Amino acid sequence: MQSTSKTRNPLDLTGDDFAAMMAEIVPQLSAFLDRLPESGISFPSGATAFLNQNSDVAAQPPAEHARPLRELLDVIVQAAENDTNAPSGGALAFIPGSGLVASSAADLIAGVFNRYTALSVVSPAMVALEAEVLRWLVSLMGLPETSGGLLTSGASMAIFSAVVCARNRLPENFLNGVVYTTDQTHHCLSKAMRLAGFPSTALRRVPTDDGWRMSVRALYGMIAEDRAAGYIPLCIAANAGTTNTGTIDPLDDVAAVAQEEDLWFHVDAAYGGFFQLTDRGKKRLSGIEHADSIALDFHKGMFLPFGTGCLLVRDREILHHAHSGDDASYLRDLQGHDSNDVYLPDFGETSPEFTRPNRGLRVWLPLHLHGVAAFREALDEKLDLAEHVYHALRKMPQIQVLVEPELSVVAFYCRDANGSRTEEDIATEELVRSVNLAGRVYLATTRIHERTVARIAILNVRTTAAIIEDTLSMIRTYVEEKAAVDAALT
Ligand SMILES: Cc1ncc(COP(=O)(O)O)c(C=O)c1O
Repeated sequence: MQSTSKTRNPLDLTGDDFAAMMAEIVPQLSAFLDRLPESGISFPSGATAFLNQNSDVAAQPPAEHARPLRELLDVIVQAAENDTNAPSGGALAFIPGSGLVASSAADLIAGVFNRYTALSVVSPAMVALEAEVLRWLVSLMGLPETSGGLLTSGASMAIFSAVVCARNRLPENFLNGVVYTTDQTHHCLSKAMRLAGFPSTALRRVPTDDGWRMSVRALYGMIAEDRAAGYIPLCIAANAGTTNTGTIDPLDDVAAVAQEEDLWFHVDAAYGGFFQLTDRGKKRLSGIEHADSIALDFHKGMFLPFGTGCLLVRDREILHHAHSGDDASYLRDLQGHDSNDVYLPDFGETSPEFTRPNRGLRVWLPLHLHGVAAFREALDEKLDLAEHVYHALRKMPQIQVLVEPELSVVAFYCRDANGSRTEEDIATEELVRSVNLAGRVYLATTRIHERTVARIAILNVRTTAAIIEDTLSMIRTYVEEKAAVDAALT
């Protein structure tokens, strides 16, 4: 018999409960957003102080009883304040994130509706919205209509799926297959290869030219050597914007090698791919349209909150074949309902995931709400700022810029009057430490061919010309003061 009790299920909030909840949450988030233009960025020293301050909640298992939202929000806000303020315009390290708020709103909407998008028959309309975003991207990258794709949690997952797609070309025993890339490629490729079952020796590092681009001549040589030694050349993984320097491999030339040698042509465009929206980017990314697979990150070039990457595959049948599961008898009723009159992908059959968040909305909403032009302009501004940084650093005699930026990363180091590499490394690290100490911007160093290099990576949507001027001024002050001290000591 059905219960007539009116006891409320505390887990099942009503519309009014939800509105009350939002009335507490939204002002906190609005205040954070209003403070953001003035708030800087520094790297946290750990979680101990935060855990001590909130020992009754943060360092405890969840209690049996309910707690007031206000108390919990307090803990969350303190946790956010403890950690690196990634949405700050001062984020100039690694590849910066942004946190586009329209996308966070879409996440909330998607979560409340909680539609199931692994199988298109269950949520054809939401899947259609996500499929439209993918179709737009396929066309932006110049891929043919046979292409398909999926939204992932990030580029690492996209690259893993790309490796699995490429691997499908090999016999069941694929251990002789080899993949070619440069030593500037993001480490998620070697991770993906390992996860896909390849031995560590399967990844070949192709030498680069003096701009850190893949040497096509060396690539040809390595492929020939491998064939002669009984290996099976499988894939070339080129970069469309390396993490270290934003370098784009010669995509047209690499594509020609891939075609000639019948290899899978993968492009890691996680960082650089969305610059395709700009005229300058499109020219520099020429050749990307020949790719068999492209990995992109919406949480980089489209400024989304962390958690959205994308894989595009030239032949969507290959993507499906590489990821589809065996028969699932428990889904038989759904198959009977398949009455879609348009082609819709089943994302649960084209990805390592089955059940997944309704990711499409977090991309679809901001694109339509702001319009594509707003993204193009923001990316163009990042290219302008990077050019400005390049020219300003070149005017500082104490600084050596590595290469003219192709995208929005400027890599440089401090010069030593006596040309000592060790002194240059120390000064470069010191420079970055002194800039970061002010807490307004955050830069990082990297190592490139045995040298410590500082980087200014401009991809945060809130990075303005004023923030860049401030950064340049701090660098100028540091190098001039150091030069004066060095001169006094000699
Ligand atoms: C060029 C490049 N490829 C791949 C990745 C990995 O992307 P994700 O962290 O989204 O998995 C990154 C991350 O910074 C990257 O810069």
